[in-house]
Amino acid sequence: MDLEEVRKTCDRVAEGIRRIYVGDELLVRKVLAAALANGHILFEDNPGLGKTMLAKTMAFSIGCKFSRVQFTPDLLPADILGTKVWRQKNGSFELLKGPVFANILLADEINRSPPKTQSALLEVMEERQVTIEGETHRLEEPFFVMGTQNPIEYEGTYPLPEAQMDRFLLRLSTGYAETLDEEKLILKRRIDWKKDDPTVDIEPVISVNEFRSLQKTVENNIYVDDVILHYISEIVRRTRAHSQVEVGASPRGGLALLKASRALAVMRGRDFVTPDDVKTFALDALSHRLILKLEHSLEGVRERDIIKEVVDMVPVPKDFRPRQSR
Ligand SMILES: Nc1ncnc2c1ncn2[C@@H]1O[C@H](COP(=O)(O)OP(=O)(O)OP(=O)(O)O)[C@@H](O)[C@H]1O
Ligand SMILES: [Mg+2]
Repeated sequence: MDLEEVRKTCDRVAEGIRRIYVGDELLVRKVLAAALANGHILFEDNPGLGKTMLAKTMAFSIGCKFSRVQFTPDLLPADILGTKVWRQKNGSFELLKGPVFANILLADEINRSPPKTQSALLEVMEERQVTIEGETHRLEEPFFVMGTQNPIEYEGTYPLPEAQMDRFLLRLSTGYAETLDEEKLILKRRIDWKKDDPTVDIEPVISVNEFRSLQKTVENNIYVDDVILHYISEIVRRTRAHSQVEVGASPRGGLALLKASRALAVMRGRDFVTPDDVKTFALDALSHRLILKLEHSLEGVRERDIIKEVVDMVPVPKDFRPRQSR
């Protein structure tokens, strides 16, 4: 696919999503960017803000194999991964594949399950493989997890440990409808659909093969100048050096910025990354990887404040275009 074709295809997917989900265009682009980068997304927000709906709409819009697990207090690792069962008839064990054997796994309300089950997702998210009773199975590409959770102050939840948070490429929040008109549009659409869940009727906008080829373009055809790598590295390192931060962004955080930025460049019809692409994702790619010093956290300092401060501090590079077009 050439770059123009890729841009148009991404536009079509984004438009399709926004025919269902009412919300910010940029948010939808970010979700798509993470998907193009084969990255896991954590949607974190209060109840009823369309997290599940956005994740499902995204999943159904690209013709991927999709499964959903509702995380509950009694969910077991085997309920996600699968298990081996004895088949009397054949005299052998048969593998019953769990919902993780899909292209997109929607892990809904991920912080309602205890750590043991959450951590079953860990190996899968990073290694993209599943081990069941000593046997390892590679997952098909693409594979990524879309997790949803309510903010950790809610009762009856098990906050994801930092190690697990780090495995999400982006943490996004859906937020409330911005205007009164948007709020009304949600109601109007419900009347038109005549049902609560319109995602059951979604026809994929692109096939899984088309999606793979978009992902390849992002991986192979986007120029990232050395000054951009410098810019990303500076941002990441300054989160670590910040006086109010206990644990700064990991190297994986820098990689997340790089990958998401390349995907956004593609969507904007460019074959190179700009500092603006990087800035767009600084909060979503980094804030969930920081741990603040307790005293500052108690004072009300937030991770987002730190990221904002750091981004404001780092000089923005200028000559980032490919050499031939300078
Ligand atoms: N931005 C939106 N656009 C369209 N419909 C929306 C939007 N926000 C919420 N809704 C509707 O509100 C209902 C709740 O949305 P959804 O189940 O996705 O919320 P949620 O954030 O996953 O909530 P919870 O945290 O309780 O799981 C759904 O019927 C959905 O269609
Ligand atoms: Mg939900």
